[in-house]
Amino acid sequence: MTQDEMKKAVAQAAVDYIKPKLEKDSIVGVGTGSTANFFIDALAEIKHLFDGAVASSDATAERLHQHGIPVYDLNNVLDIEVYVDGADEFDPRLNLVKGGGGALTREKIVAAVAKEFVCIVDSSKQVDLLGAFPLPVEVIPMARSQVARELVKMDGMPVWRENFVTDNGNLILDVHDLEIINPKALERELNNIVGVVTNGLFANRGADVVLMGTEDGVQTLTL
Ligand code: 5RP
Repeated sequence: MTQDEMKKAVAQAAVDYIKPKLEKDSIVGVGTGSTANFFIDALAEIKHLFDGAVASSDATAERLHQHGIPVYDLNNVLDIEVYVDGADEFDPRLNLVKGGGGALTREKIVAAVAKEFVCIVDSSKQVDLLGAFPLPVEVIPMARSQVARELVKMDGMPVWRENFVTDNGNLILDVHDLEIINPKALERELNNIVGVVTNGLFANRGADVVLMGTEDGVQTLTL
C-alpha cells in the first residue's frame, strides 16, 4: 500500500467515524494538508447529512467550495461537532506536531472550538517522542529575528521558511533540535514569547482520537 492509499483509507475511515454524529444542522471543522484533502473528497459524498464546514485555511475553503460544501466564517458558528485534520507527528499521549502546511494557527483555533478532534494520519507520523519533525512557529513578521534569538536560547535551531506567508500574513520559523519532553509546558512557553502567534504543538488540546492508516488497515487510537 502506498502512503497515498493509506491516507485515502484513513480519510474514508474518518467519514465513517463522524457520520453517526452528524445532524442536519451540524458543522464540521476541516483541517489542511494532503490527508485532509482526501477527507474533503470523501466528506463530499455525505454533504447532504450536515449543514456545512469551517475551514482551517484558504486552500481548504477552496476545496470545500469546489465540492459544493457550504463554508462558514467561524464567527458565525456556535458549535463545531467534530474537527478532522492530519498531523506531522503524534505521540502515545495523542499530542501532535502540526503546521507542516503552515496552517497551524487557524487549525488550532478550529480544534479549540470543536467538541471532538479526530486526527487522521498514515503510520509514518507515529513517534515515541515529538520533535524529529521541525516544530513550526508562526511569528509576526517584524518579530522574526527576535523570536529566533529567543528560540536559540531554548536550544532550538530556528530556520525561516523563506518565500512562505501564512493565510494570516505572518511568517513561519521551523525549529529543529528541540527536546520535547513536556509538550504541554513547551507549547505554553513558546506561545509566551512576544511576537509568536502560535506554535505547532497541539498538546493542551491534543487529539481525542487518532485514526492511523497502516499496511494492515486503519487503527483507532484513544487514551
Ligand atoms: C498543515 C498541517 C497538516 O495537518 C500536516 O502538515 C500534515 O499534512 P499531510 O496530511 O499533508 O501529511 O498541520 O498545517
